[in-house]
Amino acid sequence: MEKIVSLCKRRGFIFQSSEIYGGLNGCWDYGPLGVELKRNVKDYWWRVMVRERDDVVGMDGAILMSRAVWKASGHEETFTDPMVDCRTCKVRLRADQLPEKHGVKQCPNCGGKDLTEPRAFNLMFKTFIGATEDENSVTYLRPETAQSIFVQFKNVLDTARKKLPFGIAQIGKAFRNEINPRNYIFRSREFEQMELEYFCRPEQGMEFLEYWKEERIKFYENIGLSREKLHVLTVPDTDRAFYSKGTYDIEYDFPFGRQELEGVAYRTDYDLKQHQGASGKPLDYFDEETKQRFIPHVVEPSAGVDRTVLALLCNAYDEETVTDEKGKSETRIVMRFHPRIAPVKVGVFPLLKNNEQLVSKAREIVALLRPQMNVFYDETGAIGRRYRRQDEAGTPFGVTVDFETLGEKDQALLDTVTLRHRDSMKQERVKISELASVLLPQVQ
Ligand code: GLY
Repeated sequence: MEKIVSLCKRRGFIFQSSEIYGGLNGCWDYGPLGVELKRNVKDYWWRVMVRERDDVVGMDGAILMSRAVWKASGHEETFTDPMVDCRTCKVRLRADQLPEKHGVKQCPNCGGKDLTEPRAFNLMFKTFIGATEDENSVTYLRPETAQSIFVQFKNVLDTARKKLPFGIAQIGKAFRNEINPRNYIFRSREFEQMELEYFCRPEQGMEFLEYWKEERIKFYENIGLSREKLHVLTVPDTDRAFYSKGTYDIEYDFPFGRQELEGVAYRTDYDLKQHQGASGKPLDYFDEETKQRFIPHVVEPSAGVDRTVLALLCNAYDEETVTDEKGKSETRIVMRFHPRIAPVKVGVFPLLKNNEQLVSKAREIVALLRPQMNVFYDETGAIGRRYRRQDEAGTPFGVTVDFETLGEKDQALLDTVTLRHRDSMKQERVKISELASVLLPQVQ
């Protein structure tokens, strides 16, 4: 993990939040490469979950919602983790994550055994709306995006005119005041979710639970995660939310252990029923064919964006020993991202920066490709070093403009470039006019 964290800082994927002030625990900032990677994950999710489907529409809800939402959903009462205090070093700890020695729980910070009794700690960040800070102005930063989908169910149903089964998807920030944020960006206090609430008839719930589990595994494979590192855990009855009739966790083998990327939960009609009861507004569905009126059931695939990004970083990191043309061996660090989610798709390099013709041809190629993909132009340093820099950034393709491109060696090679492949380091000659059509299908 240290090597990945170090590369992420060195290359501008991820920085600690408020770093120059000593950092803010559990919060992270994405740098220039990280934001592209993260955006590609979200864009691909939106593409396959919303745009390429007839049965799913999107929405973008506010982070702040009425407190009544969190009362009705049960979050105000029960969205808690058990917490203990260590009386010796005063740290607060998750009671269910304490290490044990000879059957006795201890503080992982100081080794002390003098711990308070566990008590419930609500994970929602409390805040106040408006100028007065009293009980009437209390609300919370949303701990999940799902609730705005439930409370807007009727509006979306009426405006999008969908028939069951159909889904409402949302990507957005959520906040949980974790007692012990840990494992880098895996468990943070501010994070992003990609959630789909898929509404169906009660008798279809179990079938769609299976369907969405399979679809979601395909998603992770399609962004390049190794199938053998992905696992499906059937969440046992005792660990499932009381209203859920079935839940799968899709897990990934991180360097710090097997952990959840996404939960796929059959939430029954719990959420809509709660909001209908608390608001007094009907949240039911009228089936034209059967003339039945009922509250739809829902299957929810809920994925963590930051967790997915971390899995992609861990999955991509590779070191190999390579020998240069002078016979010198060195370690090549390469991020083997799937081209679809790689932050930069192609690096464009003039062989020499002080040759006007090479530079202007390279600039032309940048202008040609830029409307279709993220391109990085680099003219400084030896070409081998420029390739290495892009290997670390995970850029799958490199295009070099050399003297052949200018037709100086062989007229037949005029307006062709060297196309270098990141993973194999193999090089081929490609016509500039064909570059976009060669690259585009691989990066989309
Ligand atoms: N909506 C499910 C979750 O946030 O875990």
